[in-house]
Amino acid sequence: MSGLLAGKRLLVTGVITDASIAFSVARLAQENGAQVVLTGYGRLSLVERIAKRLPEPAPVIELDVTNRDHLAGLGDQVREHVDGLDGIVHSIGFAPQSCLGGGFLDAPWEDVATAVHVSTYSYQALATAALPLMAPGSSVVGLTFDATKAWPVYDWMGVAKAGLESASRYLALHLGPKGIRSNLVAAGPLRTVAAKSIPGFEQFEDAWSARAPLGWNLTDSEPAARACLALLSDWFPATTGEIVHVDGGYHAIGA
Ligand SMILES: NC(=O)c1ccc[n+]([C@@H]2O[C@H](COP(=O)([O-])OP(=O)(O)OC[C@H]3O[C@@H](n4cnc5c(N)ncnc54)[C@H](O)[C@@H]3O)[C@@H](O)[C@H]2O)c1
Repeated sequence: MSGLLAGKRLLVTGVITDASIAFSVARLAQENGAQVVLTGYGRLSLVERIAKRLPEPAPVIELDVTNRDHLAGLGDQVREHVDGLDGIVHSIGFAPQSCLGGGFLDAPWEDVATAVHVSTYSYQALATAALPLMAPGSSVVGLTFDATKAWPVYDWMGVAKAGLESASRYLALHLGPKGIRSNLVAAGPLRTVAAKSIPGFEQFEDAWSARAPLGWNLTDSEPAARACLALLSDWFPATTGEIVHVDGGYHAIGA
């Protein structure tokens, strides 16, 4: 087996369509020598159908990342396909509609709690559920949307992402002694199911199209996926708690 991830065994969450960032990660990972196990949420038969479009059809494990039983059984389910894990990709985000599109001042706590449970706490929950399968040298990678700023329409999802960015640093702190890294990729806007559920998302699209110094393709998730592969590989052995921007350079430019 050759390639950047030759021989690595990966658990990839977050595939729902072939536009999902996670789908690009899974495809590129397989093309680069990795063995991939997917998790699917909700419409499992749809995820299984999408999984067949990968270069190698990948097994799909059901995982609602807020479900304690699913998390408790994850290790056994993964072991049915691989004998351990060298990497995990957290590509999961969700917020109820009240939390998005300008609803910051009105969103009820129950909805905010859901957003934080699915999009923030789940990073720790997934990593700890899979921890018994991981050895020193393993890598956990998640996806964020630059949470250092307040964005129009992103609202409580932005708060959840700020929490995710902090959670990744704490995971780096607590898993570092075990030789396990935690890093995030801050992607620019991409037209996925999650993005389309954000009312006013086109504001991001317009801003990026106008200002990203490298330009930005709203339908190409491969650059973000490539960064995930790099962070899963052995080429960032001393990097953890980091956020790599894959946004055409947008974050570096003033208005
Ligand atoms: N699309 C963008 O513009 C963009 C930009 C930066 C970061 N991100 C982040 O990338 C990640 C992947 O999103 P995407 O854009 O590929 O969209 P997507 O809709 O393809 O993926 C989101 C995934 O989250 C999963 N999910 C939701 N609730 C879940 C739960 N309870 N348990 C398990 N899985 C659950 C969905 O099934 C779906 O597969 C998310 O964290 C998102 O916030 C997206």
